[in-house]
Amino acid sequence: MNISIIGSGYVGTTVAACLADLGHDVTNVDIDADIVETINAGDSPIDEPQLDGLIDEHSGERLRATTDYDAILDTELTFLTLTTPSNPDGSLDTSIIDAATEQLGETLAAKDGHHSVVVKSTVVPGTTREQLIPILERTSGGVVGDELHVATNPEFLREGSAVSDFLDPDRVVVGTSDDRIRDQLREVYSPLDGVPGEKLFETDVSTAAMIKYTNNSFLASKVSLINDIGNVCKEFGIDTYEVADALKLDDRISERFLRSGLGWGGSCFPKDVAAITHAATERGYQPAMLEAAVEVNDRQPRRLLSLMDRHVRVEGKPVAVLGLSFKPDTDDTRGSRAIPVIDGLQERGANVVAYDPAATENMREHFPDIEYADSAQSAVEGAVAALVVTDWAEIERLDDELDRMATPVVIDGRNAIDRRDGIVYEGLTW
Ligand code: UGA
Repeated sequence: MNISIIGSGYVGTTVAACLADLGHDVTNVDIDADIVETINAGDSPIDEPQLDGLIDEHSGERLRATTDYDAILDTELTFLTLTTPSNPDGSLDTSIIDAATEQLGETLAAKDGHHSVVVKSTVVPGTTREQLIPILERTSGGVVGDELHVATNPEFLREGSAVSDFLDPDRVVVGTSDDRIRDQLREVYSPLDGVPGEKLFETDVSTAAMIKYTNNSFLASKVSLINDIGNVCKEFGIDTYEVADALKLDDRISERFLRSGLGWGGSCFPKDVAAITHAATERGYQPAMLEAAVEVNDRQPRRLLSLMDRHVRVEGKPVAVLGLSFKPDTDDTRGSRAIPVIDGLQERGANVVAYDPAATENMREHFPDIEYADSAQSAVEGAVAALVVTDWAEIERLDDELDRMATPVVIDGRNAIDRRDGIVYEGLTW
């Protein structure tokens, strides 16, 4: 199928490369000329495993990028994969997707015949129907249900495994009440195992949007629940990881997302939980569990710091922060638990020495004035405490190096380092 994709962030680029890999003819449209050039040169504009290989294989053949919206006129179906960031009050900032929809509509005004638009960006229920469809109809002069066809199709791609999540999904969710676009999307995804079939979940536009929010809210809350219980365990001197090992044997609970510690970050969980909470509250319902999930998540960095306070005074002293990315194997620091940890250390007057194998440059934008070490080993050398924020393999391997600390106090937020004689070790929830 001839497909255009507006937006080449991590979702748009991954979807473009993967759809080309499934055999479709894909044009990626982005306003950023550098990104377009990078894709056309066969390289990935983002750091994501397997993506470079796919772009290299398909670029110039089934995959191309352009800044020219008119390229959409040669395609039959357009995916919107624009970012939908948060406003300071937690509500969704739709200005970017609104502008792209407007430009898409203006472009489609020149098209005869049918065109299909698939909203893949994460938007709260109601946004597509009440906001994006009116923009599309006003700017294109077309009518949805007549020559224009609209569906929502949320993504469930994790950073670090986005390509394999796309090519081997748990399920594909399609929301529409329009037969034409439903059939097209069945065809788009038909090279995937189980589609059409047990992995294709078809529903209406708003329910599909809600499934995305529910998925992320559920997983974030699951982590907060094991962290809340983890804090209880810590009070009793019980290891939450051992408790979780038993929980995992109950197949109603499932073993995933039970790693207790500093909590969740990233560009998705915090934003999505905030957006659906805000949207629900505006409609008169305050989601108590979701608010509690955020509250527990905010608590974990403070608990890590107060565990440190029990063992050492850090004012004027070097403290190592080990890991800056929001999870291992990514350079993304958005929503990272390292941010409140560093804030707390600075409030205590500590000299922060931070280390991350990949995310230093991104964190430097947030904290330009702290010291950045070039290895985990040099970060801990001479420090009065080491705080483990991200469970990178390199950080998990630290052992003898800890003996070179000024005072070997290790406060572990990710169960990354083994407790042993010769160091003062505190696990956040174990
Ligand atoms: C998340 C979802 O997992 C994807 O399905 C979704 O598509 C994506 O958001 C999105 O909305 O675009 P991602 O943000 O890449 O993906 O990260 P996850 O791997 O889900 O981890 C989120 C956070 O939870 C990380 O900070 C991680 O350290 C934390 N976490 C995860 C735990 O603290 N414990 C766990 O057991 C699991």
